[in-house]
Amino acid sequence: MARRRDNLLTAEDFRRAARRRLPRLFFDYIDGAAGDEITARRNADAFAEIALHPRALRDVSDRTLAARFLGSSFDLPLMLGPIGSLGMFRAGAETDAVRTAHRFGIPLCLSAFAMTAPEDMPEPPRPGDAWQLYVLKDRGRTGAIMDRIAEAGFDTLFVTVDTAVSGLRERDIRNGLRRITRPNAAMLADMALHPRWLLDFARIWPPQMGVARDWSGAGRSYLEQAAFLAGQIDPSFDGRGLDWLRARWKGRLVVKGILHPDDARLCLDAGADALVVSNHGGRQFDGAPATISALPAIAEAVAGRIGVLLDGGIRRGGDVVKALTLGADACLLGRAYAFALAAAGEAGLVALLGHFRAEIDTSTALLGKVSVADLRSGDAVPDLPRVFRSSRD
Ligand SMILES: Cc1cc2nc3c(=O)[nH]c(=O)nc-3n(C[C@H](O)[C@H](O)[C@H](O)COP(=O)(O)O)c2cc1C
Repeated sequence: MARRRDNLLTAEDFRRAARRRLPRLFFDYIDGAAGDEITARRNADAFAEIALHPRALRDVSDRTLAARFLGSSFDLPLMLGPIGSLGMFRAGAETDAVRTAHRFGIPLCLSAFAMTAPEDMPEPPRPGDAWQLYVLKDRGRTGAIMDRIAEAGFDTLFVTVDTAVSGLRERDIRNGLRRITRPNAAMLADMALHPRWLLDFARIWPPQMGVARDWSGAGRSYLEQAAFLAGQIDPSFDGRGLDWLRARWKGRLVVKGILHPDDARLCLDAGADALVVSNHGGRQFDGAPATISALPAIAEAVAGRIGVLLDGGIRRGGDVVKALTLGADACLLGRAYAFALAAAGEAGLVALLGHFRAEIDTSTALLGKVSVADLRSGDAVPDLPRVFRSSRD
């Protein structure tokens, strides 16, 4: 058992291990995406299509992976992105994420659907640590959440804007996971078949959603509270709404879920500090382009005036390096780290991030580069497949 855990290293290793440990409905919730899951696959496939040229005869003996983004310096060009329900996959997963991110010198963003409340962070938020927000129909309640986030010491707010409505994730529909407020018989049977998960889950019973814990009418269990919050997300949130948010939130504002250069300009004009090129891991609009193929045109449109982060299909350090050469300041991990935590907790995330760090370092050196700035300098130009050309020519 211990030996098998030691062998877990890559995102795919952790995905397979998580599949064994988790009830099917939770594995499918993480792994699944909208429709035919084409965009989810496309995100990863697009990275595989890009070739970078290794360079020889360069002195790469003195290297650093330090990166500057979100107004601070970090040890790696990486961040842990917002994953709703993370704490349901393993007791304490959110605490493990915070501690491990800090240990690796990288920031993380807690989800609007976190089980932790902003004021209950296991360690005080550090510069660049963020809380993610969905703008709700009730702007008073939205503002109150922002006040809690600011009072808890977060300097950065992520607002997710690719969820005007919730994507149709067919695995979740089949598993009965959409907007449920209590598990049905099939779900209970699924849970009983995964006793390691179930025993661990008993430790956090009854599960709660931190931010909604004391809201009247939101229900008393995590599932009820999550269904309530999901129903409150405002589909009318637009550019004017973003102006309101910019005026209301005094800290750093990051807009997550941008795929089009015009939307990127809108973020710039609204005074956002950074954006995340993201298609929500293919969980929203199936048929959207891979994020890495949308990146060059967006980086060009904002021309360094605001920060550019990217997520979607990041499974290896080499993917991060490719995103940096195409104009990203850093990348967010999604499923890769959710599976590491679900499969093996803190030890799993440490192993995954250690391997990412080694891969980023090795790739940088073999490309004849010595730093993130060097990778972004423009002469590590990748060979891009045809789908990229239309956005660059
Ligand atoms: C299980 C799961 C839950 C997620 N929950 C949120 C969320 O609450 N808020 C959000 O902005 N994005 C959420 N996302 C999207 C991720 O932040 C990220 O954009 C996506 O996972 C990146 O793609 P990747 O997983 O293929 O790397 C979630 C993704 C997954 C897989």
